[in-house]
Amino acid sequence: MKFPSDRWGRPLDALTATLDYLEIGCQDPERTSDFYCRAMGYTPEKMGNAIIARALDRKLIFSAGEPKTLLSAGFAVPDDLELDRIRQRLQSASWEFEVGATLLFRKAIIARDPDGNQFAFGLPTAATMQGGPDLPTARLQHVVLASRDPARIVRFFVDVLGFTLSDDVLDDEGGVRTSFLRCSEEHHSFAVFLAPEDRFDHHCYETSDWNAIRDWADHMAQNQIKIQWGPGRHGPGNNLFIFVHDPDGNWVEISAELQILEHDHPTGQWPHEQRTLNSWGQGLLRS
Ligand SMILES: [Fe+2]
Repeated sequence: MKFPSDRWGRPLDALTATLDYLEIGCQDPERTSDFYCRAMGYTPEKMGNAIIARALDRKLIFSAGEPKTLLSAGFAVPDDLELDRIRQRLQSASWEFEVGATLLFRKAIIARDPDGNQFAFGLPTAATMQGGPDLPTARLQHVVLASRDPARIVRFFVDVLGFTLSDDVLDDEGGVRTSFLRCSEEHHSFAVFLAPEDRFDHHCYETSDWNAIRDWADHMAQNQIKIQWGPGRHGPGNNLFIFVHDPDGNWVEISAELQILEHDHPTGQWPHEQRTLNSWGQGLLRS
């Protein structure tokens, strides 16, 4: 089946974007920044009350605030045309939004999801960054939230923003426990799961391959950072993974082999069980 697309081949009915940066609320931004510089090879820069951490293909902003809070997620869009489409979708849904620059986008459209998490879609400021010395690649790739009402968030992401639903995880009664959404050919750039509270859960870096996962694990070992979960392979997305914890207890994932999907790939369904979270063994069920 052929889907209508623009002259660059982008589907007209779907958002095209990539995760560019995250702003995270931290109890102690200095301490959190120190951790990420050690763990992920970031270089920090003070900017007012915030710390901007940069490395090749990844950026984080640490701000004083409630821990386990996503203050903002920045998704880069390819051009003004895509920005215009987002603005039109928000306007036709009568969804509140702002237009302006952010710390890392020269022009952006900024809106909040039904839980109040902020999302910015924009055109990044030009920046040249080198990777950390002797570290494998790690491109900021996805962000995951916990929510008491994930269905509301999924409707906002699909119906208003134009994300595509890749996979749902269903419990025995058919209730949706986790939803994985994409805004490119990659299986998910965003996911949300059912939880007793609304919070930031984790973010993920995509690396090159299995050997690079090993090298990241060795790098964590050299820095006395414990692997908290993995290595394993997720069901939805089929990606290899390891997880560590940051000082506020946020999960940090390094992944490889994330599934690539055609635009018209149908939404899949998975049972809510350990094997869905980790086909190799232990699944840490958090929803
Ligand atoms: Fe993940």
